[in-house]
Amino acid sequence: MQTLILAGGKGTRLRPLTLHTPKPIVPIVNRPFIYYQLDLLRPLNVDGAMEVLLSLSYQPRKIEETLTRDELGGVSVQTVVEPQPLGTAGAMRNVRSRAKGTLIVLNGDILTDIDLRPLLSRHRARRAAATLVLVNVEDTRAYGVVELDDEGRIQRFYEKPAPGATNTKSINAGIYMLEPEVLDLIPEGCEYSFEYDLFPRLLTSGLPLYGEVTNAYWLDIGTPERYRQANADVLSGRLRRYPPESAPQLTPDGSAVDSGATLKPGVSVTRSVIGSNCYLEDGAQITDSVVLAGARIAAGAIISSSIIGRGAHVGSSSVLHNVVLGDKSVVTAFSRLG
Ligand code: GDD
Ligand code: MG
Repeated sequence: MQTLILAGGKGTRLRPLTLHTPKPIVPIVNRPFIYYQLDLLRPLNVDGAMEVLLSLSYQPRKIEETLTRDELGGVSVQTVVEPQPLGTAGAMRNVRSRAKGTLIVLNGDILTDIDLRPLLSRHRARRAAATLVLVNVEDTRAYGVVELDDEGRIQRFYEKPAPGATNTKSINAGIYMLEPEVLDLIPEGCEYSFEYDLFPRLLTSGLPLYGEVTNAYWLDIGTPERYRQANADVLSGRLRRYPPESAPQLTPDGSAVDSGATLKPGVSVTRSVIGSNCYLEDGAQITDSVVLAGARIAAGAIISSSIIGRGAHVGSSSVLHNVVLGDKSVVTAFSRLG
């Protein structure tokens, strides 16, 4: 059993967080994101049966350096670096020679607690060439909308639909189960997109294509708003954690504070994440925020609904609401932002 994780995008919509940290390893509650995806695959890793191919292009070394044996939980992970980005389907074609059978493909930026086992059984039972996992969302504009018939066969696909193009609320969740004949349809060695190129081709191929709507927790972490939402959802336990020991240790105020952070007296941290080597001085107040590693928050600063980049420095008595600071930003004392 193999899984390909598409983790080569530049993460442009998550800038500034992704300027120096590629999206697969931005931390969600002080844990690199990629580990949440590997957790999904553990139930399929019976007797070491799961092999993960991680398709990288943007800042691959940083991702490779972050992969540590303890966190992989026995799942074998190999990285495949694209000399230049090949697009979502090009990345799949690039691993064609290694693919041995059904390939699970995950977009490398989706946080979910889906159980893939029943989906895989149905994919096999109905001899689908491709099964796409779908989720229902209210605002479909940032996604690929998928229309099904009564038997769950895919009829149409609209990537990033214009308002009014379709009333369907089911979107491509970025989780596919593909048979080798699908990979054969992708031309070799060029940029090719699953969403814009391969999918339309599949629809005319006559191959059996199915969609499966899931009610599992699901979020694309690819914008600052959704990144903060992802942290909040892990903190509040909205998604089922697997394995259970990976659930974060929380303070009574619902926060996760790294053991390597220093909090001076009078600091209050509510529903927030504080990374390693952060230094919070007297009276700092942090609410509904993510403070990344090495940030320094000076005395009396009040921060709410914000993301503070790695090594940033927020001066004393400043007030920040709903802001995103890039790594090493400096906010001088008494500033007001947001
Ligand atoms: N290896 C590789 N090479 N990976 C890539 C490349 C590439 O050239 N381009 C993008 N990726 C990876 C990204 O890193 C990301 O993990 C994934 O492919 C999807 O790319 P995004 O840029 O995040 O796409 P999106 O969010 O706009 O839309 C996609 O995901 C939606 C669900 O979150 C589409 O698949 C939509 O149809 C879908 O609804
Ligand atoms: Mg995305």
